[in-house]
Amino acid sequence: MYTPVCIQDFETHAFKVLPKGTLDYYKSGAGQQLTLANNRTAFSKLRIRPRCLRNVRTRSLSTTVMGTKAALPFGIAPTAMQKLAHPDGELASARAAEKMGTIFILSTISTTSIEDVAAAAPNATKWFQLYIYKDREVTANLVKRAEISGFKAIVVTVDSPMFGIRRDDVRNNFKMPPHITLANFVGEKATSVSKRQSGSGIGNYVASLFDASLEWEDIRSLKKLTTLPIMVKGILTKEDALKAVEIGVSAIVVSNHGGRQIDSVPASIEVLPEIVKAVGSKVEIYFDGGVREAVDVFKALALGAKMVSLYLVSNYCKVFFISQVFMGRPILWGLAYNGEEGVTKVLKVLKSELENVMTIAGCRSISDIKPDMVVHESYYSR
Ligand code: FNR
Repeated sequence: MYTPVCIQDFETHAFKVLPKGTLDYYKSGAGQQLTLANNRTAFSKLRIRPRCLRNVRTRSLSTTVMGTKAALPFGIAPTAMQKLAHPDGELASARAAEKMGTIFILSTISTTSIEDVAAAAPNATKWFQLYIYKDREVTANLVKRAEISGFKAIVVTVDSPMFGIRRDDVRNNFKMPPHITLANFVGEKATSVSKRQSGSGIGNYVASLFDASLEWEDIRSLKKLTTLPIMVKGILTKEDALKAVEIGVSAIVVSNHGGRQIDSVPASIEVLPEIVKAVGSKVEIYFDGGVREAVDVFKALALGAKMVSLYLVSNYCKVFFISQVFMGRPILWGLAYNGEEGVTKVLKVLKSELENVMTIAGCRSISDIKPDMVVHESYYSR
């Protein structure tokens, strides 16, 4: 097996080894995939302004997330059906997160149950991503199980009253192989994606079971179901960010679902400054979408840090800034490479890249990554 040296190498390997149906499901964006591509292009339009001679002999990548220390400023975004990439699926990625001291978010539509993930990685910081089903008892049950199993937050995905149209999944009549089930459920909810059907099996599943009638008040009601902090994932406008704060969420994940929902929404990194400016003083803000290299992590952290300076000016002592960047597909590529070892390698590659970038840019800690260290390319043509 060849040794990957960057995430692109893991991706290249995954493209060679994964079956077509799985690969298409993992890699696709919605529609023409403009947003999917733009998640990457937008990063490439940002430039890093490094600082020299700042004694960077010792470095720390650790950060604090919801009051808990994380060894790394990047973690694992929820992605469904990880057993399609490797038989150990979510167990492998949760264990890798535990080993590396970072956060693991488990998808509702995982192929390993909440309880099995909790048992496999008891010391990992685990959050549960929630899709809200029409059957509210199902939803309440998931939340309770996550709470009892030691998950530390509920991440409600709010960008998915339906799934975006991922054309290859429709062409492929995407379905899971029969030996894999959606392990948090029993009966139809567990097995219907494995049945032969016309169009995308997962698209059909979501259209029939997820609750498209959801409103902000439902998030308020959800808060009453649990003592865990509630975060909302999939926010792309300041209007919704302000609404989320008004409802009393603990954190916002700026995300366009990896370009899989509406094609033509902005890249996540384009949206981040607007959200940080609107609510960065009030809630923690996290980010995902298109992160493939440590320079991307650095750029997101710098743009997210904008609030820090504002707060110092206003003498407010509680300083929020973006403390976590999440990755979806790179983890799947790591799983496809070699299960737990593969995901660990992905996290290690990114860790050593980030240490390298931070050191050369003159940053000893995450809080040294300042807003003026990242500018849009237009800065140099003014
Ligand atoms: C996802 N994503 C996702 N999000 C979510 O809230 N629940 C889920 O079950 C899934 N499932 C899922 C499957 C696959 C195959 C992908 C690629 C993505 C979205 C995910 O959490 C995250 O927002 C994006 O993956 C981030 O973009 P990158 O890192 O893949 O570019």
